[in-house]
Amino acid sequence: MLGNFKYSNPTKLYFGNDSLKFLSEELKNYGPVVMMTYGGGSIKKNGIYDAVINILNQAGKTVIEDAGVMPNPTVEKLYEGAALAKKHNVDLILAVGGGSTIDYSKGVAASAYCEQDPWAKYYVQQQDPDCKIIPVGSVLTMVGTGSEMNGGSVITNHKENLKIGKVFDDRLMPKFSILNPEFTFSLPQYQMIAGFFDTMSHIMEQYFSNFDDNTTDYIAEGLMRSLVHSSLIAVKDPHNYEARSNIMWTATWALNTLLKKGKNGDWMVHMIGQAIGAHTDATHGMTLSAVSVPYYKYILEGICANQNKGIEKFKRFAVNVWNIPTENKTDVQIATQGIDALAQWMKEIGVVMHSSELGLKEDMLQAVANSTITYPTDYRTLSHDDVVEILRRSL
Ligand code: NZQ
Ligand code: ZN
Repeated sequence: MLGNFKYSNPTKLYFGNDSLKFLSEELKNYGPVVMMTYGGGSIKKNGIYDAVINILNQAGKTVIEDAGVMPNPTVEKLYEGAALAKKHNVDLILAVGGGSTIDYSKGVAASAYCEQDPWAKYYVQQQDPDCKIIPVGSVLTMVGTGSEMNGGSVITNHKENLKIGKVFDDRLMPKFSILNPEFTFSLPQYQMIAGFFDTMSHIMEQYFSNFDDNTTDYIAEGLMRSLVHSSLIAVKDPHNYEARSNIMWTATWALNTLLKKGKNGDWMVHMIGQAIGAHTDATHGMTLSAVSVPYYKYILEGICANQNKGIEKFKRFAVNVWNIPTENKTDVQIATQGIDALAQWMKEIGVVMHSSELGLKEDMLQAVANSTITYPTDYRTLSHDDVVEILRRSL
């Protein structure tokens, strides 16, 4: 039962190893001042900075550089960038980087002319912008978040121990994104595999909700199968263009509003992962990998205690994604073997399996649970104690 929905996605994509050449075409659609946002310098080492700056110069743009966007961008950086964008009256924000740089750019785009505190308005209160918004475009260098084709913007406030995502509407989605798989070749292995798991988690967060028959679940299974296949190639051969390009495309479709259609979503792994991130500043994808197996096993235990209501999706996951044979097995055995197969794949690609590796300690569990946003999902509503228990099992 898909119900009623609107579907549109305003982001234009340019994909492939020749895609940067389309930047000059896109730049014609915007005024003379471009704010180029980027991170800690990887684009200067791999040549992407020079390539982009050349195109901006050839297009005659005045370039305002906003460097130093940190992984898990902070609220302090957001305020700084918003002031800079307003001061220079920028016509376009061009994000050159991964999810952090693109998320940050959306936050700046919505905050430059915001008359209230943007952290309170957008992130804490989840309100929508009612001021002028600066258009955002992106050149993606790190695969995983889907930020290149969605409205998501996650900002961290270390003073308040909060990491909160705002999903902005179409106005903040990138007007265009340039996806060149070769731009991701310089990623350190740790970041590459963190992005693989982030992608997997985005699909699972949406797949593990609703109990009906839904086209979206079949799409999700296809994306997961493709990701598993290509990730196992890419970990051994990171410059394998076929694998890396398939993963880049999968990551974009994993979180670009398509899989959300007809789905409630769960997102509790992300809520717990973001709380770990708020306290440790750990790499996003690794906060998810550390809690996923404990989380899904905990949910499965709840299902077993509730006459197996909701077990079908777990069985389907085991059979359709992991090819688990079903003969002579109970539903619970099949479902458990699906999660075990997920864990096996995670070990093979090498992601973090324990939150203690990210700096989490027993005496932090209560505080991290306090920072975790919870709400009713299709499986259960996690209490504070449930979150503490999942965190404890993840250590
Ligand atoms: O800062 P630089 O020097 O660029 O280095 C980055 C950073 O250290 C490096 N990197 C990126 N591209 C590279 C590269 N190094 C070498 N070669 C390249 N081509 O990788 C590191 C991580 O980059 P970052 O942008 O932080 O990673 P990611 O794309 O995973 O973004 C993480 C942020 O996105 C949020 C996360 O919470 C986190 O704050 N998310 C955004 C979402 C959305 N917009 O919908 C959803 C996600 O669930 C996620 O929450
Ligand atoms: Zn994520």
